[in-house]
Order: sequence, then C-alpha cells, then structure tokens
Amino acid sequence: MKRRNLLAAVGAASVTGLAPAVLRAQAYPAKPISVVVPFAAGGPTDALARVLCQKMSEVMGQQLIVENLGGAGGTIGVNKVAKANNDGYTILFTHMGTLAVNIALYKSLPYDSQKDLEPIGLGGTNPMVLVTKKGLPAKTFPEFMEYVKANQKKVQYGMAGIGSASHLGGLMLNSMMKVEVLEIPYKGTGPALNDLVSGQFDYMVDQAVNVLAQINSGNIKALGVSTLKPLPQLPNVPTIDSAGLKGYEVSIWNGFFGPKGMSKDQIAKLNDALGKTLADPAVSKRLTELAVDLPSKEEATPAALGTQLKASIDKWVPAVKAAGVKPE
Ligand code: MLT
Repeated sequence: MKRRNLLAAVGAASVTGLAPAVLRAQAYPAKPISVVVPFAAGGPTDALARVLCQKMSEVMGQQLIVENLGGAGGTIGVNKVAKANNDGYTILFTHMGTLAVNIALYKSLPYDSQKDLEPIGLGGTNPMVLVTKKGLPAKTFPEFMEYVKANQKKVQYGMAGIGSASHLGGLMLNSMMKVEVLEIPYKGTGPALNDLVSGQFDYMVDQAVNVLAQINSGNIKALGVSTLKPLPQLPNVPTIDSAGLKGYEVSIWNGFFGPKGMSKDQIAKLNDALGKTLADPAVSKRLTELAVDLPSKEEATPAALGTQLKASIDKWVPAVKAAGVKPE
C-alpha cells in the first residue's frame, strides 16, 4: 500500500475503531514471499507451484518466489518451513506424501505436519501414471506385470525419495504386484524423468502433470493410470485397477502451508489470492490440460485442507504399513 493510502487507512481505522491487526493484514505482503518447494526444479510440485505463484503474485501485488529445496523425500524443505519465522514471508507448497504418507516411512520425522504447520489452501489433486522407458519390452499393463515378475533382480524403478508421491505410487504398485525391485532415488521426479527418457531405469509412477508431454512426444510409454476412471488426457491408457491390479488407486493433492502461528489474516489473504488464481480462466484451462483436478469452493478453505491432511494420514499411514514397508 502506498504511504499516502496507508496514512489514510490509519486515519480511517482510528475513526472506525479498526484493530491494529487489521491494519497489519492490509499491509501484507509488504515484500516478496518465499515459497519453498521441497523437490527439484522441473518436476510436478515445482510446475504446479510456478503456475499458481505467477498469478498469485499478480493478484497480491508482490512476488511469490519459488525456492526449490529437494532431498530426503521432501523432508528437508518441509522442515525448513516448519522451523521458519512465522511472519508470513516463508511458506511451503508441497504434497500429501511429505505431510502424511512419510509418517509411516520414517522412524522419526523432524516435524509434525499437523502441529508445526498452518494449512493455507489446496492447489489441486493430481492423478498418477505408470510410465516406462521406451525400450521396455512390455507394451501393455499385463505384459508389464509379467516382465517385472520375471526380472525382479534387474528391474529398476525411479522415485523422488522416501515418502515422495512417486514412492507411494511405486510402493503400492510393487506391493500389489508382489515384487521386490531396485529403487533409484532422486531429488525430484523432474531429474528422474530425464533419466527415464534416456533409458537409465525401467519405470516410475509419477504425477500426470510431469509426464504428459513426454508421453505425447513418444519418449516414454504410459501403461496405466492410477485413478479408477481413465484420464481424458490419455484416452488410450487403461486404469491400473481395470488392467490387472484391482483396487489400485492413488491421487496426490498439493497445497500451501505456513509455519505454525502465522497470522490468520495473512492466511486469509493468501487463500483469497489462491482462490482468485484458480478461478482465472487461463490458469484453470492450463491446469485442466495438465490433468489437475481443481478444488471446489468447499475444498478450498484453509480448514478443509487441514481436514484433508488428517484424512490422508488416516488413510495412508495404515495402508503403507500394511504394504509391509519398513520405516527408515
Ligand atoms: C516432484 O515434484 O519432484 C515430485 O512431487 C516428487 C514426488 O513426490 O514424487
């Protein structure tokens, strides 16, 4: 807010009795906001964050700057925000893997996603796709299962670290196929995808937003989608559920969070900017093309994101434990 307008607002506030907290909220954001993405640049979390932050910057009149901090399945970046100053200038954009799934996969996490973070708003939910290197002999999902079962000692699957979305997608697939294969960890599925394209490992289960372009260019093969309904963006690819693994279903939600204790007014401003961004026709068209399922009004509130986080913990922690994966 310009100084003259701010002085006018202060004057009006003293007349109308507005609380100083309201004035603080009116001035927010007074400088750029750092948005930590806990995975490498060029991956799905990064791509979504950049589309959203670009428009949110316009709406808020301040830059939301994406900071990629990958490693350890996203836990390094999440921990940075969980321990950050809660002044509203350091926030997080991440997915349910780093906040819910990994509770089952680490003996001890440096943060508690429900106690150390404030939900701001849901960015969208992504279906996943089983993608293989172009040269893998299997051409269909049943052939893929046969191939992996027969070659367990040498088959390699890529993922973005323990508790990442690609880890969840892969571990549920491998456990339902009853195979044990070699795991190749990356700091994000952006760099993993480059290696899949050049044929350095065999397969990965990744969010559609990251792999659609390479599938459409014919650089990798898509053999199944992780949702119970086929994706309009990949009409010739069956669901994994219908193609041989009944009950396989994984989707990944992504959202903004701040450090615990961040002001409610700042959260409301960010949530409002996110809502305006998702309602923007160009943004929603772009995200829909990338197979992102956008939140409804009810799903878009900070409280709904908190509820969604709890529901994901309740769903995935027992499911991952039941899949027999030992915590690290
Ligand atoms: C990424 O942005 O690289 C991914 O979300 C990683 C993952 O969780 O699979």
